[in-house]
Amino acid sequence: MTIIPNFAVFEGGDGSGTTTQLSLLTERLKNNEKIRFFPTFEPTDGHIGKLIRAALKKDTELQPQTIAMLFAADRNEHINKDDGILKHAINGELVVSDRYVLSSLVYQGIECGDELPYNLNSRYPAPETLIFFDVEPEIALKRMKNRASREIYEYLDFQVLVRQKYLSLLDIYRNAGIRVEIIDAGKSAPEVSNQVWSILCTMPIFNEGEKSL
Ligand code: TMP
Repeated sequence: MTIIPNFAVFEGGDGSGTTTQLSLLTERLKNNEKIRFFPTFEPTDGHIGKLIRAALKKDTELQPQTIAMLFAADRNEHINKDDGILKHAINGELVVSDRYVLSSLVYQGIECGDELPYNLNSRYPAPETLIFFDVEPEIALKRMKNRASREIYEYLDFQVLVRQKYLSLLDIYRNAGIRVEIIDAGKSAPEVSNQVWSILCTMPIFNEGEKSL
């Protein structure tokens, strides 16, 4: 597995707080003169990402296999486009993505079986650091109860499977030499933010300053 230096990902079930934590990290790094920061997310806000969002909201009906292919296609753009993950990481920026390949292995693995998402994503490089935001699905879904509408995966039964699958797949990453950290995401946002920060601060980019691939 090729690893992209300077690249970290946040993973977790729905309502685990990855998006909130990316905002808090952005705030924390706003005035940091040493680290140039590129926060990003999947599904992206590009054309394919927008189509995925429509399918997640049930505005357009697509087969689960089609959704798996769209996530992989969106990711190819996210990694390789001019303003993409690789470019920023090569430029010596800290790149942190709210979700990446493991989301597909988990969610589409449950929906379509493991083989399709594995094959679609096997050529994509891995992050240097992966942080899994672990929280009981009941708590996570309670946090989301004020949202106007539910997306297709935001149901307790599905989220229970999501958590199990994340926990069962983390070893693949560990065995490939990727740093995997599990955070108790049931804690308060500031506590989780401090934990995220202490993990990221030990990435080489924080110790070596700007680094090129
Ligand atoms: P979000 O809630 O983090 O914005 O992500 C949207 C949903 O998309 C969430 O339920 C997780 C799901 N998802 C997948 O099913 N596969 C993927 O590859 C990605 C990136 C997200």
